Amino acid sequence: MNLSRLALSLGQSATLKLNELANNLKAEGKPVIHLGGGEPEEKIPGGAFSESKKMLDAGFVRYTPVSGTAPLKKEIAAYTEEHYGVKPGPKNIVVASGAKQAIYNFLVSVVDPGDQVVFPAPYWVSYPEMVRLAYGMPVIVRPPEGELLVSAADIASHLTSSTKAILLNSPNNPSGQVYSKDFIRELVEICESRNIYLLMDDIYNRLVFDGLKAPSAFNFSTRPLNESIIVSINGVSKTFSMTGYRIGWSVANEALTQAMIKVQAQVSSCPSALSQAAAAGALREGNGFVDTLRSSLEHKRDVMVAELSKLKKVKLHKPQGTFYSFPDFSAYDKDSTRLSNTLLEKGMVVTVPGVEFGLEGHLRLSYCGAEKDMVEGVSRIRKILD
Ligand SMILES: Cc1ncc(COP(=O)(O)O)c(C=O)c1O
Repeated sequence: MNLSRLALSLGQSATLKLNELANNLKAEGKPVIHLGGGEPEEKIPGGAFSESKKMLDAGFVRYTPVSGTAPLKKEIAAYTEEHYGVKPGPKNIVVASGAKQAIYNFLVSVVDPGDQVVFPAPYWVSYPEMVRLAYGMPVIVRPPEGELLVSAADIASHLTSSTKAILLNSPNNPSGQVYSKDFIRELVEICESRNIYLLMDDIYNRLVFDGLKAPSAFNFSTRPLNESIIVSINGVSKTFSMTGYRIGWSVANEALTQAMIKVQAQVSSCPSALSQAAAAGALREGNGFVDTLRSSLEHKRDVMVAELSKLKKVKLHKPQGTFYSFPDFSAYDKDSTRLSNTLLEKGMVVTVPGVEFGLEGHLRLSYCGAEKDMVEGVSRIRKILD
């Protein structure tokens, strides 16, 4: 079979592969506990349900404009103004089939073959492969031993004349850590002075605990949106528990947005009309759903931290947001893939090896599932390791 060098070089998504594995094991009746998941267990917001139902009842589900419907863009503009301190116009927004496609639209629009895209570890599993899909070169900035955050100076020291963009996900999948105001301010200054893009992957941005807020990069910019190097990526997958609807979006300057629209037009024409109606319904419903989800996740975070602290040799930075914890298990096994396999074989517990996120020795354990599963899952891990 003839396959392209690009296709042959791409890795599989570790997290999606593990999801499939967990589902298959469950279907076989195995007592599997899935701590590798990436979606909240909550039902979708009522507004999402009623808007999709309305469209189905009418019986018309058609193509929409490439960059999204006017009603959804209106909701996105209001949401962005409320939470990120900048009000985009319709020409600054591209609604995509998930935040993932929005990131892909961006990369294909700004990266020439061989250009560098810089991001810190631990990183979301898809970043390196998505940069490669755009024929770019991922450049990874690693934190000091025992830490999960890099400094702006660390990032600056990895920039070259070939750097096109920096990607930042805060709060971070997998670490749950939130980058500080000072860090974001410095990063915006660096990117503005060098004229390189700063992609803020804000997909977990409202799932932050202990009364904290993840800073918005726009707050530190000296430029109006249409001259800005900041691109904000967001969506309804995590914050509104709507992963299966596949709706995300980008907010960026008009020229870049035009380029991203061209990419999307040739790749997928437009996101699903039904899903866009549902996303508008969810956003219109406002903050209530997100507040309830956040406090439920904050409680589960506390349970996860308490359970993990019972393990004798685990080191943990308490997650400040998301629904992931990223403990250091290296005192048990430095090889996270081997350790993850052992936990699956001996305890039927699914975890994601830290090496997939660029930091060996860690495992990612999610706390978005049922509380009793988390408790049972970590207890099984303890029985195996301690
Ligand atoms: C950091 C990060 N960015 C983007 C995405 C993609 O989100 P979506 O489901 O909207 O494509 C995910 C999903 O896991 C994620 O963790």
